[in-house]
Amino acid sequence: MNIGFLASHNGSNMQAIVDACTSGTLHAVPAVVISNNNSSGAISRAKQEGIPCYHLSAKTHTEPEELDQAILSALLQHKVDVVVLAGYMKKLGPKTLSRFPGRILNIHPALLPKYGGKGMYGMHVHEAVIAAAETESGVSIHIVDAEYDTGPVIAQACVTVEPTDTPETLAARILKREHTFFAETLQKITTGEIALPTEDK
Ligand code: GAR
Repeated sequence: MNIGFLASHNGSNMQAIVDACTSGTLHAVPAVVISNNNSSGAISRAKQEGIPCYHLSAKTHTEPEELDQAILSALLQHKVDVVVLAGYMKKLGPKTLSRFPGRILNIHPALLPKYGGKGMYGMHVHEAVIAAAETESGVSIHIVDAEYDTGPVIAQACVTVEPTDTPETLAARILKREHTFFAETLQKITTGEIALPTEDK
C-alpha cells in the first residue's frame, strides 16, 4: 500500500506512520508528502526521510482547480493507493476526491461527530471539550468527503479527560494516542480487518 500524505504543520502523525513503515509494524510505503506550508515540519521531516515532497498551495497555484489538479497529479505520479490527511487543514478539490473514492483518510483529535466541523481543529477542539466538561474524548479516523469532518468514521479510540486537564495536557495525551492509533488502523486496512468502502457504495 503506497501512502500519500497531506500535512500542514508539524507532521508528527506522518512521522509516526513513516516510523511504523520503517520498523515493519505497518506494511506500507510512504510514497509522497504534500504540504500547503513550505516551512512545515512535515516538509522538513519528508526531506529528512528521503520521501518525495511538494509544497502545493494557493501560493503555488492561485486557481483552486489548478491546485486540485497539481495535488492529484503528485498523488498519481507516486502511485498512491491511500491518501492520509495528517493534520491537513485544507479541503480537497473535487478531482482529487473523485479519483480516490473511499481512499482518503483523516485523523481528528476528538470523538466525531462531536467536536468536528469548520473551525474545529487543533487546540480549538480540546478547548471545546474541556469547556463542555466532557469526561471522555479521543481520536477518530474517518473517510474524507467534500466537507470538514463529516465522512464515515472507520475507527475510534477513547482517551479519558482528567478533571485536572487543560486543553494543552489533553492535546498532548490525545496526540500520543493518535501516533499509535493511525498506524494500527492503516495496518488493519492492509490486512482487510478494516474494509474501506468500495466505489459503488
Ligand atoms: C493532530 O492532532 C490532528 O488530529 C489534528 O491536527 C494535529 C496535527 O498534528 N487534525 C485536526 O484537527 C483536523 N481537523 P501533527 O501535524 O503533529 O500530526
